[in-house]
Amino acid sequence: MTSEQQQVAADQPRTVGLLAEFATQDELIRGARSMRTNGYAELDAFTPFPIHELDDALGVRPTKLPWLVLVAGLVGGIGAIAFQWWTNAVDYPMLISGKPLFSLPANIPVTFEVIILAAAFTAFFGMLAFNGLPKLSNSLLRVGRFSTVTTDGFFLSVDAKDSSFDEKVTGEALRLAGAKHVEPLTEEPNPSAMPRAILMGAAVLGSLALLPPVIIASARSTTSDKPRVHNFFDMDFQPKFKSQTSSRLFADGRAMRPRVSGTVPRGSLQQNASYEFGFAPGKASSGEGDGSETATPQWVKEVPMTVSTELMERGRERFDIHCAVCHGKAGYGNGLASLRALELEQGTWVPPTSLHSQHVIDQPVGQLFNSITNGVRKMPAYGHQISVEDRWAIVLYMRALQRSQQASLADVPTDLRATLREMN
Ligand code: HEC
Repeated sequence: MTSEQQQVAADQPRTVGLLAEFATQDELIRGARSMRTNGYAELDAFTPFPIHELDDALGVRPTKLPWLVLVAGLVGGIGAIAFQWWTNAVDYPMLISGKPLFSLPANIPVTFEVIILAAAFTAFFGMLAFNGLPKLSNSLLRVGRFSTVTTDGFFLSVDAKDSSFDEKVTGEALRLAGAKHVEPLTEEPNPSAMPRAILMGAAVLGSLALLPPVIIASARSTTSDKPRVHNFFDMDFQPKFKSQTSSRLFADGRAMRPRVSGTVPRGSLQQNASYEFGFAPGKASSGEGDGSETATPQWVKEVPMTVSTELMERGRERFDIHCAVCHGKAGYGNGLASLRALELEQGTWVPPTSLHSQHVIDQPVGQLFNSITNGVRKMPAYGHQISVEDRWAIVLYMRALQRSQQASLADVPTDLRATLREMN
């Protein structure tokens, strides 16, 4: 014996089962049934196309995978809801405009995603695990005639793990069951060894992965006078002048242009300031000789529009739309938004001023108009939402509201005074 022959003898492959070939699918099904009646359980069949009867003939039970997927989906769903509830309502509760800390509809998207994620991963990896994949070697592939399984070969295998397995007896049983050919399945000498190709691939990928850190490290420690690589230009480079820069385009060398004398920017033509702003811009010297000048607005005293019933009606409608939510329909500062905010006791709410407080009653209409246009302290500005005309209409209606709450007998027409009744 040469040393090579000795080597082969020592590596004599182990028999792990028997492979039987059948001539037709019907014979295969019959063979599988008769092997099962003979008491063999570790059977498997290989065919070029799916044969549904085979599941029954081999006694294959339905897979448990769907149940596993169901459990994973439930765990994912309950876990996602519980986690969102814990973060939002327990660990870091944040009260935003009185919204509930936890509300199911808002948490559905994440829950749905996590259910799908857990179920899909379980289905995919569970399928691999139940099939014992990935397999590094397969003794079936060592049998030459097994290659016909993708064209016209029908095969039945008996695993050596079967309790009634015996190479001779089982082989005889297979032949009796109709097999036209039976041969042993042998294991590869080193079945769990990682194939060389995979090892090589991993080595190549591993070394390639080292390249970026090396390039980054070298770039960090050296300097370069080349402009940096700019993959996406976006709008980074545009032909435009930035403020405070110079330009040779203009004679004075400045990129920024001064206002053209004798022109007015759009919307700045203060032709009718009293109407548009509620005050006439005035300049008054605040002290003698110190040169400082402060602008003291001259508030408009009368609504600068023709007062009519339509304007008043318009004012009531606009007030109810824009102002009543905070100030209340009668103007006492008890609008729904304010009541709700007070109930929540968040501590940051400034209640709307009652429009019947003396300092508001004393204000000229121009100042009321200005409060709507530009807001006042905590109250937001409404100039961009309400037109000038409507703002004056609201001011007019505010005045009517104030008067309605201050009315005296003198305000009632003489012929109606007799109809009044005293309240108690
Ligand atoms: C979002 C709530 C809110 C709305 C809407 C609102 N206000 Fe007010 N308003 C306030 C609050 C709050 C104050 C008190 C501000 C402060 O004192 O900081 C106030 C104050 C005022 C004052 C008193 C200003 C002063 O000089 O003391 C007037 C007048 C007024 N609002 C008119 C209006 C009118 C007219 C509208 C509709 C166009 C309106 N408000 C809409 C919240 C609101």
